[in-house]
Amino acid sequence: MRRCHLASKAVIRVLSGIQPSGELHIGNYLGAIRSWVRDQYEFDSFFTIVDLHAITVEHSPEELRKNTLRLAMTLLAAGLDPEACTIFAQSHVSAHAELSWLLECTATFGELSRMTQFKDKGRSDESIRAGLFTYPALMAADILLYQAERVPVGEDQRQHLELTRDIAIRFNAKYGQTFTIPQATIPPLGSRVMDLAHPAKKMSKSSQSTAGTIFILDPPETIAKKVSRAVTDTENVVRFDPENKPGISNLIELWCAATGNEPSQLVSQHRMYGELKKTVADALIALLEPLQRRYQELQKDPGEVSRMLKLGAEKAKFVAEPTLELAKANMGLVAP
Ligand code: TRP
Repeated sequence: MRRCHLASKAVIRVLSGIQPSGELHIGNYLGAIRSWVRDQYEFDSFFTIVDLHAITVEHSPEELRKNTLRLAMTLLAAGLDPEACTIFAQSHVSAHAELSWLLECTATFGELSRMTQFKDKGRSDESIRAGLFTYPALMAADILLYQAERVPVGEDQRQHLELTRDIAIRFNAKYGQTFTIPQATIPPLGSRVMDLAHPAKKMSKSSQSTAGTIFILDPPETIAKKVSRAVTDTENVVRFDPENKPGISNLIELWCAATGNEPSQLVSQHRMYGELKKTVADALIALLEPLQRRYQELQKDPGEVSRMLKLGAEKAKFVAEPTLELAKANMGLVAP
């Protein structure tokens, strides 16, 4: 089914990025990827696999290669259509690294030092990579190169978005109108999926144990097992109460995000935790089934992913390169 009508698309430009680190989980799907699939038909959308960001921390080249291709295949399987949107690997468009330098020379040491993600990840550690510090300038380049107006991101990226805006405003004021000032949009639903084993913690790609993380490509039996072992409470009353019953409420929210229903619809039908878990597991399995089927098909034709990335890089360069040239010229760099 093709639903791509370029002419009728609103001109609003959306850009988002995702790191090829670890395996995607259901929180990534419900909080980000699923809305990207919707956005691609509504907006002029750019989605980038930010492989250059993935090398700001200790990494294995082998793993990075594997994770990048797996992520690209998962995005295709999830329904991103390379003709409806632009999907590409960040490192395939060299303008990202180049504009990033210009923006490092626009941002200040103080601004970058105040980023909480940097502070959390190892400000005190002498051996961290310098790129971890300048990470937000690269992220600003990702966004500003495309003159993106909206940037769907999780709450944890809000500060980076604010910095991107500050950098863009400063650049425009100093060197003349160059960049569109972007806005963060926080996905409404499912963006706060908690770990099934530790319901006080967000589900994360990098958590130590995988017991509480449902990966997008987990087989149905694994999903059922993880949900059945989800941590709940001893009250044995099915009630939606995120504060006092984080485990049960997380399961209910997952079900709501998967089915589009309200908590009360699930709560009214279940008395026992066991039954509730079964219903939740079934909903998650059904949600992921089509994606997993497409993923298996795509695995038979790995060329499809390379074709997608190649097309994406071409489309991305077409927009990014003129922005880079304008930024260089405005900054006073003489054209060759
Ligand atoms: N920093 C983002 C994250 O860790 C990923 C990212 C990189 C991004 N570049 C971006 C997100 C541009 C949105 C727009 O989630």
